[in-house]
Amino acid sequence: MSPRPVRVLTGITTSGTPHLGNYVGAIRPAIAASRGADVESYYFLADLHALIKVQEPARVQRSTLEIAATWLACGLEPERVRFYRQSDIPEITELTWLLTCVAGKGILNRAHAYKAAVDRNRAEGEDDDAGINAGLFMYPVLMAADILLFNADRVPVGRDQIQHIEMARDFGQRFNHLYGEHFTLPEVEIEERVATLPGLDGRKMSKSYDNTIPLFAQRAELKKLIFSIVTDSKAPGEPKDAEGSALFQLYRAFAGEEETARMRRAFAEGIAWGEAKQQVFERIDVEVAPLRERYEALIARPEAIERQLREGAARLRAQAATPFLQRLREAVGLRDLARAPVEAKADAGAAPAPPQFKQYRESDGRFYFKLVDGDRLLLQSVGHDSPRDAGQLIARLKREGGAELHHLAGQGVHLGQHLVGHLAEGVAVEELLEALARFAADEA
Ligand code: TRP
Repeated sequence: MSPRPVRVLTGITTSGTPHLGNYVGAIRPAIAASRGADVESYYFLADLHALIKVQEPARVQRSTLEIAATWLACGLEPERVRFYRQSDIPEITELTWLLTCVAGKGILNRAHAYKAAVDRNRAEGEDDDAGINAGLFMYPVLMAADILLFNADRVPVGRDQIQHIEMARDFGQRFNHLYGEHFTLPEVEIEERVATLPGLDGRKMSKSYDNTIPLFAQRAELKKLIFSIVTDSKAPGEPKDAEGSALFQLYRAFAGEEETARMRRAFAEGIAWGEAKQQVFERIDVEVAPLRERYEALIARPEAIERQLREGAARLRAQAATPFLQRLREAVGLRDLARAPVEAKADAGAAPAPPQFKQYRESDGRFYFKLVDGDRLLLQSVGHDSPRDAGQLIARLKREGGAELHHLAGQGVHLGQHLVGHLAEGVAVEELLEALARFAADEA
């Protein structure tokens, strides 16, 4: 039997209008990757995520249509790729709650996007959470549900999303640990080779810099925008630096190797900026024009896109999401009451292994221990002079650790006073307390 194909899943937040940077950096490589053998691709419109930032209904709707039409126009094949809209799959929101109940709040506190918003508030002397909606705080949990619902193996994203994938793994692992192996833990996939495109002002093309070129600008508009790209003041005939030029970077993102080499030579030989711009414009338009034509036809018939998305979601729900969620509901105890007694027994047999203290000696000659829960490191001790010292501390922690440490909860990572040690990366105090409580329960 051949192994199942690798599942690749990614979401596209439906805020804004796609620009050339999105095309080169995300859309084009993702569509190319979806054509590979042995991959099963899941691409979806993350419209629930969009609501966190965009609270104008017409814009949410418009952007969802534009982004769906863009991906289809650029060659996404809905027969081959699972293409759907997040809000059409209610199992995603339901799973969000199940994951919310295992997600460490401390982990969410450390999410970059949330922390950045808090830092901005602090810098302005505001309350930490002023103006921050809970959607921003919960963003990583919704994203984890997107990924875990379909047991994705790989998630191609930009660097800014790495932490979110790590959190998805963390929540999935906690759930698995509590309720049995249900989720595949996803791997992040960073596409190193794709260029980030410079925008009109030479900085990275990005909506937040307001320097973008819309992917489907009309030909005349595209030309105007390309002619407005900043250049230096070198005159025709003066040699020009290709590598440092936004115009050249843009050209290279669309041209083949030979064309690129030719353009590099033209720069060295002093091509006039006007001429270079004309060539960049023509080269981009050759690739974009047929896509633009398809895009316009698609966007003129929104009902066809609507139908396609709904069908995509209905298939996925029937094949995967609905039965999988049913299984998860069972796992957490949202069950048919009439069957409860039978399953309670089965559960007892499958109880997760208790956490364990492991003692060892380091090359510094001192005695250490760590607390592990399955293969998750929770606590790393400080060094002790003798194994007896370490052992006594372990005994105390087992007996009354939860109570002893309780007042320290919320004080962050260091459990300093008692010279216990420190929490492992990504572990919240609450998780440690919970593990210790399990020892206490066993003793009792
Ligand atoms: N947060 C992602 C972004 O801003 C979009 C997204 C939502 C996503 N859900 C996802 C990406 C699931 C990958 C997997 O780019």
